[in-house]
Amino acid sequence: MNLKNIDFYYFSGTGNTFLIVKKMKQAFEKNDIKVNLYRLEKTKPKDVDLNNTIGLGFPVAEQGTYPFVWDFVKSLPSAKGTDIFLVDTLLAYSGGIVGPMKQIVKRKGYNPIGAKEILMPNNLFPKRIDIEKKKRKILKGQEKASQYAEDIINGKSRWKHIPPFSDLLAIFSKSQKTWKFFRWYYPLTIDKTKCNKCGLCSKICPINNIEMNEYPKLKNGCTICMRCISFCPKNAISKFLLD
Ligand SMILES: Cc1cc2nc3c(=O)[nH]c(=O)nc-3n(C[C@H](O)[C@H](O)[C@H](O)COP(=O)(O)O)c2cc1C
Repeated sequence: MNLKNIDFYYFSGTGNTFLIVKKMKQAFEKNDIKVNLYRLEKTKPKDVDLNNTIGLGFPVAEQGTYPFVWDFVKSLPSAKGTDIFLVDTLLAYSGGIVGPMKQIVKRKGYNPIGAKEILMPNNLFPKRIDIEKKKRKILKGQEKASQYAEDIINGKSRWKHIPPFSDLLAIFSKSQKTWKFFRWYYPLTIDKTKCNKCGLCSKICPINNIEMNEYPKLKNGCTICMRCISFCPKNAISKFLLD
């Protein structure tokens, strides 16, 4: 195993996954292992360097993950035994996403060395959770992240077997129909009385789904990653009725 260099590709909608990835980076670097962080949504899978160990980090969404994360993993280049590990963050239940992810990377010739799911605060309804509880959950998650990195270094991490139903559940989050339903169920609204037209939401949307037309205008692809909502400096974007 070449753990000298790790290229860690991650997506984080609201920061939970980033906190975990950062903690893992610190733990690796304490052990003289160099870690480069890359935004998954800004990386072309074909540019992944197969000479380095690959890390993948992303949030769980709809008992799976966002379609563009699936697409990234599915589009990784074929490898000849490149080590790869995964970390996902979640509120409660992932539907066993590590199973289908393992199948994808194994078929592509990677060597799956570890997968870990780390509980973090709910980002779908962030205002509904107590701030102290949130801090405690983050700290616990970060401890788990450091331990996981240590386990990878010491060869103790595992990418567990595929739960029997996880392939079926994964179908939901891969399907555009699921996200269409959620766009209908959680329509994002822009409050023009609060919006200062700064355009940040448009710049940070991972799938370029927001156009600036004086005010932000949503196109049809939103997968409710919550990034625009959580980073809007004017609190002008919300999920209609539910925030
Ligand atoms: C649209 C959406 C769907 C989610 N679905 C799930 C889910 O199925 N299971 C779960 O445990 N957490 C779910 N979550 C919670 C997130 O996985 C969790 O808060 C994660 O840590 C967010 O990471 P991030 O801040 O890096 O985006 C969902 C969050 C969102 C916004």
